[in-house]
Amino acid sequence: MSARTRVTSVEAVHESGSYLFAVRDSYGDDGEVVVVPCEDGVAAFRNFCVHEPDQRLAREGVGAVVRDGEMICPRHGSTFDTCSGDCDSGKAEGMTLADVDVVVEDGQVYLVDEELTYLYEGPVQGDDDDDDMPSSTSHINL
Ligand code: FES
Repeated sequence: MSARTRVTSVEAVHESGSYLFAVRDSYGDDGEVVVVPCEDGVAAFRNFCVHEPDQRLAREGVGAVVRDGEMICPRHGSTFDTCSGDCDSGKAEGMTLADVDVVVEDGQVYLVDEELTYLYEGPVQGDDDDDDMPSSTSHINL
């Protein structure tokens, strides 16, 4: 459904730790994708936790918490491998994040997922109901 769309660069993702953008799925619903460093490249996942799907992993201005090759859920602290999306500790243990198809070419990251169409950089706009939700539920301790 989607054409190949340039999203960001590998360098930018590694410098900032993550990159957030909005998408529209094949049902016309808007959502978010977070791109994170994976070894020398990147991987991309839908921006919600598989333990509680209302919980975002990354949010505007802050991004995702990524450390030592793992993305950390801000709600309960489950850790997800940034390459596979697999969780091996915390409340989401044994679960895997919903992955998104991207490719890297000449250091640029392209969205190639058949189910998703790129909308714009950052979170979904006009979704006021839960804009404050991640910060108000953040209990992360590093
Ligand atoms: S909401 Fe992410 S681990 Fe519970």
